[in-house]
Amino acid sequence: MSHSKLAGYDFYRSLNSPRYCMAPMVEQSELAFRLLCKNYNTQLTYTPMIFSHTFLEDKEHRVRHWQTTSDDYPLLVQFCGNDPLTLLEAGKLCLQMPNAQHSVVGMDLNLGCPQKFAQQHRFGAFLMEEQRLVREIVSILHRELPVPVTCKIRIFKDIQQTISYAEMIRDAGCQMLAVHGRTREQRGSIQGLADWDAIKLVRERIKDIPVLANGNIRTLEDAERCIDYTKCDGVLSACGLLESPAMFSGSDGQESKVILAKEYLKLCAEHPPPEYSFMTGHVFKMLKALLSDHEDLKMRLGTAKTREVMFDVVLELERRVENKM
Ligand SMILES: Cc1cc2nc3c(=O)[nH]c(=O)nc-3n(C[C@H](O)[C@H](O)[C@H](O)COP(=O)(O)O)c2cc1C
Repeated sequence: MSHSKLAGYDFYRSLNSPRYCMAPMVEQSELAFRLLCKNYNTQLTYTPMIFSHTFLEDKEHRVRHWQTTSDDYPLLVQFCGNDPLTLLEAGKLCLQMPNAQHSVVGMDLNLGCPQKFAQQHRFGAFLMEEQRLVREIVSILHRELPVPVTCKIRIFKDIQQTISYAEMIRDAGCQMLAVHGRTREQRGSIQGLADWDAIKLVRERIKDIPVLANGNIRTLEDAERCIDYTKCDGVLSACGLLESPAMFSGSDGQESKVILAKEYLKLCAEHPPPEYSFMTGHVFKMLKALLSDHEDLKMRLGTAKTREVMFDVVLELERRVENKM
């Protein structure tokens, strides 16, 4: 799929105006899971965050983690880092990776990671104090990359700061902005609720490029409520999709979870995730509620060493659920 470099809403419309999107997730938004969700009305996905420096320097890591197919369209490749030229080179290189031309529609810059290592290595949400640098990164990517650059940010406590940050990023050349309505401090056990009011106010000021809202989207109804309230073009969901990969098709009943877990494991046979642990993580999250009544199966899943054994455990769970055991 060749994409001339489109801007803002022309870019968005060229992707069929996605409303329901999967947020980037380290170790969890890998190809097999993206394809699963895309089978159930997820209309745009992101790769997990990729360290731009590692991507450039470590060929083995790059090859191992790079996964995409034409069914994976449309895909945003998310990078993190703080060096404009390293990010640019990483962005250019990813476009030459296998199948990139069939699926990759743009490069996303991670400006939201709140973790300690992001602080140590000065990237993600720790660039919120280095706005001159952020401007430089976004401008270079906008100017030099053959695909549009998009950004994912967190909010400041102060709404005016959030708005001027978003405007600066837009002015530097960002073509689509995802706003996670939590501050950098809202993470881990003190995550709390996302602030849709802040997202709404950013949207009111940023009208000329698409804005996606992120935070607290657990069901299709949440997605619709959020779009209705914030007037954003679409939403990103992370935790909601991990538990209910079919959530954007309106189906999040427990019965369908076993079917989804089986479908996911079949996709993994075709596209093995870079690490085995990604698979375990997904199956546990999808089947969380059902497994709570079957401690023995939980144990067997936790100790399963192959995809086939995991599949057998899921089949056994299916049998028990059908027989209401
Ligand atoms: C397992 C996991 C991994 C994540 N990895 C990333 C990442 O690589 N890049 C990023 O920008 N955000 C990452 N996030 C944050 C999500 O993209 C999203 O902003 C956040 O979870 C809020 O959305 P939610 O309320 O729907 O979960 C991650 C979140 C989770 C749960």
